[in-house]
Amino acid sequence: MKEELKNLIESASLEAKTIETENDYLNIKSKYLGKKSKLSDLMKNLKDMTSDEKKQYGPLFNKIKKDLESLFVKYYDNVLNKEEKITFDPTIPVNEEKGSLHPVTIIAKEVTDVLKNIGFMVLEGPEMESEYYNFTALNVAENHPARDMQDTYWLDNGLLLRTHTSPVQVRAMEKYGAPIKMCAAGRTYRNEDLDASHENTFFQVEGMVIDKNISISNVIYVMKGMLREVFNQDVEVRLRPGFFPFVEPGFELDCSCTICGGKGCQTCKNTGWIELCPCGMIHPNVLQMSGIDPEEYSGFAFGLGLTRLAMMKYKIKDIRVLNSGNLRFLEQFNVR
Ligand code: DAH
Repeated sequence: MKEELKNLIESASLEAKTIETENDYLNIKSKYLGKKSKLSDLMKNLKDMTSDEKKQYGPLFNKIKKDLESLFVKYYDNVLNKEEKITFDPTIPVNEEKGSLHPVTIIAKEVTDVLKNIGFMVLEGPEMESEYYNFTALNVAENHPARDMQDTYWLDNGLLLRTHTSPVQVRAMEKYGAPIKMCAAGRTYRNEDLDASHENTFFQVEGMVIDKNISISNVIYVMKGMLREVFNQDVEVRLRPGFFPFVEPGFELDCSCTICGGKGCQTCKNTGWIELCPCGMIHPNVLQMSGIDPEEYSGFAFGLGLTRLAMMKYKIKDIRVLNSGNLRFLEQFNVR
């Protein structure tokens, strides 16, 4: 019996050194101290022992049990201490600087939220786009001079970087048909020389409504409502004729200057108006190419320059700062 106990202690002490995880600890504990352990087996002999033997072995068993238990705990404690050094400590105070949303992201969310509230789907489209979706399906025929209106980055794989968010209109018409109300915000690219008001990478939000009996008054109503929410003030809008191959008639929508309220200032070049958003009634060819019957349905669309809007709302003078990664500038907006 003594020999057996000695061997038991020896092998338990050796094995205790291998404890590396909580699982190891629990396994070794059950192997040496559990109900089916060798020690339990040996303790069963107690009942057949003489009272002298009982007096000797009873306390011995108890001592061995306690010693092994504290040995296992000791090695397991080492593991815990080691882990503590490398694990995350949630009690350390956090750095107050948590990061902030980019001004364009804030505006994009505001605009799409307003549109969502009046029933628009919020969609996304690819930034690497095909010629068909970017031009052809928008009624810009191959070799048509209108393709030159948008200096395009062509890619080696035959695709291009979308020059506007309008291709998402086409994808939405193909996928969902009519009637439909959708918007899509995202990055757009044009091969521009950079200066304070031109960037090669900028953001737009596209909107489109197709239903029966849609007219220009719907455009005015939606745009006015949206701009009021974004600028937190009532704005006036006006339409001037504008040409875009995918709308007929096409317009430039101006809004009353939010800086001077229409009285005339530097920002609006003393006109009281700011050119904000091209729009128009969707050209019947565009509807037809995407499988919608222009005899039955009509629609309007708009393409709002988000970068421009962010600059207006936050009074940012140089567009280049938006893509600069200049955190000192971008952090000012500090919306989390
Ligand atoms: N996609 C045009 C551009 O970036 C803007 C535009 C004009 C979008 C008229 C529209 C629209 O949806 O109806 O120059």
